[in-house]
Amino acid sequence: MNLKKTLVSTLLASVLCLPASAATVGASDLIPRPTEFIRGKGSFTIPSGGFSYSIKSQAKENLSDYLSLFPELFSPADKTSKANLAIEIGKGSGETYTIDITPRRINVKAPSEAGAFYAIQSLIQLTGIKGATEIQTGKISDSPRFAHRGLMFDVSRHFRSVDFLKKQIDAMALMKLNKLHLHFTDAAGWRMEIEKYPRLTEFAAWRPQATWQDWADNGARYCEKNDPRASGGYYTKNELRDLIDYAAHRNITVIPEIEIPGHSKEVTSAYPELSCAGVPYTDEDLCIGKEATFKFIEDVLDEVIEVFPSAYIHIGGDEASKSGWRNCPDCQARMKSEGLKDVDELQSYAIHRVEKYLNSKGRDIIGWDEILEGGLAPNATVMSWRGTEGGITALKSGHKVVMTPGEFCYIDYTQDAAFKEPVSIGGFTPLKKAYSYEPVDSSLTSEEASNLMGLQANLWAEYIPTDAHAEYMYYPRAFAIAEIGWSTPEKNYDDFHRRALVLNARLDSLGYNTFDLANEYGERRESLTPVVNSAIGATVEYTTPYHSKYPAAGNSTLVDGIRGGWTYGDKRWQGFLGDFEAIVDLGENRTVHSVAATFMHAPGAWVHLPDNVTVEISTDGIEFTPVETLWSDVDPMYPKIMMKNFAVATDAKARYVKVKAKGHNRPGAWLFTDEIVINCP
Ligand code: ACM
Ligand code: ZN
Repeated sequence: MNLKKTLVSTLLASVLCLPASAATVGASDLIPRPTEFIRGKGSFTIPSGGFSYSIKSQAKENLSDYLSLFPELFSPADKTSKANLAIEIGKGSGETYTIDITPRRINVKAPSEAGAFYAIQSLIQLTGIKGATEIQTGKISDSPRFAHRGLMFDVSRHFRSVDFLKKQIDAMALMKLNKLHLHFTDAAGWRMEIEKYPRLTEFAAWRPQATWQDWADNGARYCEKNDPRASGGYYTKNELRDLIDYAAHRNITVIPEIEIPGHSKEVTSAYPELSCAGVPYTDEDLCIGKEATFKFIEDVLDEVIEVFPSAYIHIGGDEASKSGWRNCPDCQARMKSEGLKDVDELQSYAIHRVEKYLNSKGRDIIGWDEILEGGLAPNATVMSWRGTEGGITALKSGHKVVMTPGEFCYIDYTQDAAFKEPVSIGGFTPLKKAYSYEPVDSSLTSEEASNLMGLQANLWAEYIPTDAHAEYMYYPRAFAIAEIGWSTPEKNYDDFHRRALVLNARLDSLGYNTFDLANEYGERRESLTPVVNSAIGATVEYTTPYHSKYPAAGNSTLVDGIRGGWTYGDKRWQGFLGDFEAIVDLGENRTVHSVAATFMHAPGAWVHLPDNVTVEISTDGIEFTPVETLWSDVDPMYPKIMMKNFAVATDAKARYVKVKAKGHNRPGAWLFTDEIVINCP
């Protein structure tokens, strides 16, 4: 039993210290929005001493233990007849509940303990609204749309304490999220005690630098646990059992992720014999040719399933470089003996084998959508992150899926204008964008869609060094995930925004560091109105082709009068690897007053300003006269996202305007531009 109070529980209990002004709150204030509310007449006055409750339960009953954490809000009635909160729990399953609010009494009915728990969460949310004194009468009938409503915590890039995770579990429960996915292992540190492989936590869990960025900038090395510089940490099995139990009492399943075969440099550095090269700090991937690798994976998974009761074990599967496998005699021998035609099939062999092992132990695998490559393991569930295509493919072949497409569900992306936000990996996913996500693709039949388990937000933590920063990224965007996962698909962002402000304020009062939604800056202003551009509709000839991944609107992009927003991924910015050169044909000779092009800088995503931009003009398209070269005055590694406009003035006549941008020389650097603005009188 793990019901010990966290600070948050204590604070949640103090919700009845209400300010003097009376206010009626109701079902329409909840996040997630309940399935149905039939309004009654009048209101229920929130009792000044809290609810006196009775419970009639046919299940093994834990709810009263949970309610005892909130003595100011819930106390048992000495007689059932005196209860103003009557709770009835059946012996079924599921997360459904009803709350019948009458002027004198609130009746909760649920077929299961989980449903009753969520009814209580609704009451905790309502009574905690600042100033609430009355609850609107009526009947709330509520049940979730999806079974999987999750948040992922990347505890490898920056380790988080058990107390921090419990605090987030309390917030998750309040919004009816029910899956906590822990990304335990990655190059930045191994985080779970494994008795058979002690070097994972004596060595691979520690690094001489506290932040991921410093660690990455200093050669990405590990150190011994007792090194005075050691920063990082890991969870003991007992700590994890305690966490799992704490979560289970709040209807939350903890899903562990042990990443194979890529993202495993911490393993191949602690145990180099599991890599192709056989030496530390070399391979990101485990060697699939060596039997020792499978012995390692099975041993680790044995200890994972000994601790985690979750039906799912997440086995990663994303972004393996597969490069070492091509030249490794063991991997090549494996491919030959198993008749595997390429390294994708070699990865697929590994995933199939691990699935078979876990299935034999009564568990199922879930993995990132790369596990589709080379053939999906028969019982695997896919977590679709590179867009929704992988998830849709998996659903169409009868597999289960959890949707986490980066564009909507990656909350390591900036949530507001980058100039006012902390350094991030890039992207732009404000609350409105996250909330706009609809997980059921219109191409799916209802049978295919029935295997869609739900959705999840992922907070990759490379750029999230502190707990406070992590909370800032989760809230309020986790509210959007909660509502999409629970409520029916109808959406009204203005109403959601109103409720999000209320819940955000609530979390603030409970000591969470939320994003200041009330003072959101929003989208890049220039992108909201058409650009005045004399070149609109002109022909653009590209000397350097735009990249097939970032074409935006194709050949018209740079003269369509539309500027990009805060992210290069918004299909309004056009992307180039290396240099950029294009010629705009104005159709006739005109007087050109000025020529300008804006470029983006987002170094976390290898997007850099050009070192310089040159404008040349021509009347015949053959002989070009230079107008000016402008140089960037921004440090190429300035960590924040920004835009820079390069503008030159002239008064010459020209039909052809050439814009050349010299890409920054960091290997793999991108250039992104959204519009060539030419001003002719
Ligand atoms: C991922 O973001 N590499 C799953
Ligand atoms: Zn190998």
